[in-house]
This record gives sequence, structure tokens and C-alpha cells, in this order.
Amino acid sequence: MSTAKSMDAIMSLCKRRGFVYQASEIYGGINGFWDYGPLGAQLKKNLRDAWWQDMIMNPCWGRKGPNGERVKCVPVETCIIQHPKVWEASGHLAGFADPMRKCPGCGHFVRADQLWDIITTGSEWFASLIQEFEPALEDTKTPAIDASKLLKWARSKGRKQAPNLALVKNPEVVLSFLATRINGQPTAPPDVVEIIRHLATAQLNATGLQDPCPRCGDVLGTPAAFKLMFETYAGLTQSEDNKVYLRPETAQGVFVQFKNVVDTTRIKVPFGIGNTGKSFRNEITPRNFTFRSREFEQAELEFFCHPDESLEWYKFWRDFRMEWWKSIGLAGENLILREHEKDELSFYSKGTSDVEYRFPFTAPGFGELEGIAHRGDYDLTQHQTHSRNKLDYFDTTRGETLPNGGKKGERYMPHCIEPAAGLDRGALALICEAYTVDSARPSPEFLKLHPRIAPIKAAVFPLMDKDGLPEIADALYDKLFARFGRIGLIENDAKQSIGKRYARMDEAGCPYCFTIDGDTKADQTVTVRDRDTGQQQRMNIDKVEAFLAEKLGV
Ligand code: GAP
Repeated sequence: MSTAKSMDAIMSLCKRRGFVYQASEIYGGINGFWDYGPLGAQLKKNLRDAWWQDMIMNPCWGRKGPNGERVKCVPVETCIIQHPKVWEASGHLAGFADPMRKCPGCGHFVRADQLWDIITTGSEWFASLIQEFEPALEDTKTPAIDASKLLKWARSKGRKQAPNLALVKNPEVVLSFLATRINGQPTAPPDVVEIIRHLATAQLNATGLQDPCPRCGDVLGTPAAFKLMFETYAGLTQSEDNKVYLRPETAQGVFVQFKNVVDTTRIKVPFGIGNTGKSFRNEITPRNFTFRSREFEQAELEFFCHPDESLEWYKFWRDFRMEWWKSIGLAGENLILREHEKDELSFYSKGTSDVEYRFPFTAPGFGELEGIAHRGDYDLTQHQTHSRNKLDYFDTTRGETLPNGGKKGERYMPHCIEPAAGLDRGALALICEAYTVDSARPSPEFLKLHPRIAPIKAAVFPLMDKDGLPEIADALYDKLFARFGRIGLIENDAKQSIGKRYARMDEAGCPYCFTIDGDTKADQTVTVRDRDTGQQQRMNIDKVEAFLAEKLGV
């Protein structure tokens, strides 16, 4: 279970083994941006390829949809920068903003709707202050605040960690208020958030409860809308006329090409259009490693269908997407499908669900990996109105039956079901799920990645770098590379002790290692080592390729 896994240990492995690096690290990094190293880039490509294979090339593993026919999908690849009117029509220009609060003390900005989540999970001063409360909080019957401990905290750690918290600036007043308010109240166990808000509030009687800055403890300002789209200019002058935006989602590129796809291919509704690529959001508080970044990759499908069939298609995609994440290694209690409540839905939506994963930093809660939304005809209608181009669809398979047995046809605006996945969050969830510590092993940390996702598919090791063993290893490597090199990396390594080489492969998530030793020359057998069990067996060298093909499912 990932609840007990340490995010620090996972991040350290990601850096050490070349999965994820901080972007621009040699210049001190840039907040909200991450680069993938050799193993991470290959892992993410494997995830993207799996999505492409199972959503576009062989949608839903060849399954039939609710209409009784095989699901049909085609790809597009659309621009990051679109005509600004695209974002006017989609509603992003007017509405894509987060409520944000500025700290007058340190100038830090914080998302208003995530304030307490940020304070309770990531604030240094909160973590140390809460230790002072622990005994009182445990006694829910007669809570008592130990003023002397808090005073000590305010004069030592508080000065460094939260210099602008009212408790630090004016401890006597705050503590006497707090004591009369909370101590010995038999019916009301102290609520941590309420207590901390008291500690932040300098002029208690005049201002009431206020919220502290997660960085310095000062009272935050009132929320203001903060636009999430990155702006730039296309053309020579940096004028309003030339202002353009980096896309905040790949989906809109599909809607604006819907008519072209229908007119230039023979595909008929119901069908899907898939689009993968980078999206950009100027997130106010990028955090939790790659989970909330400012540049990230999406894999989105817009599936167009007749309005009357849309609810069935919504349920079909919702269930398939959940099954898909399970198929690549996220099975178990860490993965859930959360159906949105009616009051969470957009006015045009008949249903939305999120596939959520329990990351170590969200535990015991969950974080969204993918949203599956019934978007009705909202997007096509918006683009039709704003572009003044007709985007409806003429369906020759519907309408009244004609005397010749054909159909009269029906014109309608298709409804859209949108499974929208994040590849960076997907890669992070797969790494967190795969991360395993087994102290009984010589090298306790390893990644139990699904073979389809593992960046390195196999490793070939000559036990010693002499006696003709490297030559046998080279020949086996060439054979495996020719067969499996298109789906992932194959290693061939003769350096270091065999234990260290196995440990490196375990940390990289490589499922199988094949070792050539002295016996290989005599009986043409090699040792195959299983990453998850650490067990070894001997097999004829000629059988290795077929063995690996079966294990990798190719
Ligand atoms: N077209 C619909 C759409 O974009 P979304 O829920 O905003 O919906 C879809 O985004 C997915 O993109 C999310 O489930 C998540 O996996 C990923 N995503 C969104 N914002 C992200 C961010 N700041 N960093 C990393 N991934 C993000």
C-alpha cells in the first residue's frame, strides 16, 4: 500500500536513477517545471504508447461499444498556440482563473481554495506548532492549551518559522484570549484550524478569525481571481492584437478540427478523436513533485455520439478507463473511481467521474489522474457560435425509413464524452505504486513496474568481463535488442559486482536479468533473475527470447 511510502525516498530514487530532474537545476530550478531523465522519458513514452495503442489504434482492446460495434477512434496533433478566439469560445479566457490570496508580510501567493490543505501538509511552522498541541488535542473531553509551551515556541522556533504570526508578534494577548476561549470547554474539542486561525489573528475582537500565510504566518489578503493561462505574443509587436495563449488543455484543438476530420475521412459518428501533448497552466501553487506542474502532458479523447446514446457511452468510457489504469499496474485499493455529485457537475454535463490514485502525499485521500466528463454539445455549440461555422453533423443512418429502404438522415450536434488523462500524474502514480521496500533484500528499494511500462525490458550480464563471457552476452543482447528494442531499453553491462548490477536494475524497475557465467559455455544455459521475487532459474540460452516475449506480452 502506498500510504506508508515515503515521498522523499521516491523522489530521491527518481533523481538517483534518472527518472525525473528539476528543470534548470544548475540555475537553482524553476518552480512547477520538471524534466525527465533517460529512464523517466522512456517510462513516459511507454505510458503514452500504451494510451495511443489502447485508445486510438485498437480502441478498448477491440471491444464493442453500447451500439454493438467496435469502438472507432482517430488521432490528431494540434498546435499549442491557437487563435485567441478558441479560448474565448471555450470559456477559458473569461473563467479559467483560480481565487488567490496575497500575503502582505512576505508577498507569497496562495490558492484560496487549497489554503488549509497547503498549511496542514506543507507548512514548516504548522508542523512544528502542531507538536505543541498534540497532548491537548488527544484529550477531547477537557482540552487545555499549555500556554507556557506555546510561549516558548513563539520565542524560539516561531521567530524563525513564522515571524508574522500574531502568536509570535504579540504572544501574551493571543494566548490569554486563546486560554479563555478554549481551556476546559467540556463540549467543544478544539478544532486545529480554528485554533491556528486564532493564533494568526492580531486584533482579535476587531477582526474575528483570519487565515495565516503558510510561509510566514501573516494574515492573508482577500481572494482575487488569478488567470491561469500563460500569455505570449505571435508577431513582431508585443501589442494586445498579437497576444496569444499557451493552451491549458489539448481538448479544444480537437473541437476546432472536428469538421475537418469528418469531411476528410470516412469516419462516422459515433467515433473519437485523440490528441496528446503539452499543456500549460500558470498554477499558483505548483507542488507535490510532478503532480501539479505548470507544464504537463495530457492524453485526451473527445468521443462524439448521438445525444440519445450519450449516457451509455459515458458509462462505457468511465468503466473502460478505470479498467485500463488497472491493466498497467494500478490495481488495488489505491485506485478509485469517484462519480461527481450532481452539484459538482457543469450545467451541460450529465455525468463526470474521476479516476483517482492514493499518492503518498494525498493519503489517506486521493488525487485525480483522469477525468471522464459528459460534455454534452457545449464545446461544438460554443465554437459554432463564435466562429460562425456550422459544426453539426448529418447522420445518414438515422431518421425516417425511405421507400427504397434507406434512411432520410438526421442533422444534430453530437454530444461529447471526454476521457482526459494526465501523463505526468499517470507516470508518478505508476512509480509510487511500483516503489517497494523489502528490508530482507540486499538492496531493499526496487520498482515493481508493470512490464509494459518498465523503461528497461531486460538486462544481459556477463558474470565476468573475460573468458569469452562478454562475447556470449553481446550475441544475446543483439538478439534481444532486435526483437524488443522498439518497445524499450535493453541493457548490456559487464562492470561491477553482479549484486550491484542487479540492484541497479531493481531500482530501474527492469523485470528480468539474464546472466552469462562459466556454465553457459559448457551447457548453453543462462541464469534468469526475477525482479520481484529475486529468484533465479537456469534456462537454455535459445529459450530466452521466447521467455521474454511471453513475459512482456508481445
Ligand atoms: N479537457 C479537460 C481537462 O483538461 P482537467 O481535469 O483540467 O480536464 C485533465 O485535466 C488531466 O490533466 C487531469 O486529470 C490531470 O491528470 C492532468 N492535469 C491537469 N492539471 C495538471 C497540472 N497542473 N499538472 C499535472 N497534471 C495536470
